[in-house]
Amino acid sequence: MDWIAWDDTLDTGHAGMDADHKELAELFNLLRDAVERGAGKAACAQVLDDIIRRAQTHFELEQRLMTQHRYPKAEQHAAEHAMLIGQALDYREGFDMDSATARSALMRFPEVWLAFHILFSDKELAAFLARTRDTPGEQ
Ligand SMILES: [Fe+2]
Ligand SMILES: [Fe+2]
Repeated sequence: MDWIAWDDTLDTGHAGMDADHKELAELFNLLRDAVERGAGKAACAQVLDDIIRRAQTHFELEQRLMTQHRYPKAEQHAAEHAMLIGQALDYREGFDMDSATARSALMRFPEVWLAFHILFSDKELAAFLARTRDTPGEQ
């Protein structure tokens, strides 16, 4: 099984956001580790809880940046964050690992869950923040 590798595809170019995303990717790998070594459902649920908690603090960081720099798409981005947390909480409540298919879905869940948001929405936010930084009079 290959690990969730952090590569350039997921790099947003914003140091703070990327550091958080990497921490999340490490938690995703912990979940894969747990599933692969046959850990029980309670242990996996605990890693899912850690992922959700870490995602929440990460989203708070992005939300502070959006407010601070008056990001025009802040509302839409925040709505995506709320939706992602909702999806993760639903998954956390309903997941099972009684079959190989369910275990494989569990290992892939966090990556699939967050990757599109990073690729499309976070990259767009990071590009905006980089432009703001380059504009005289803003920081
Ligand atoms: Fe985001
Ligand atoms: Fe993010």
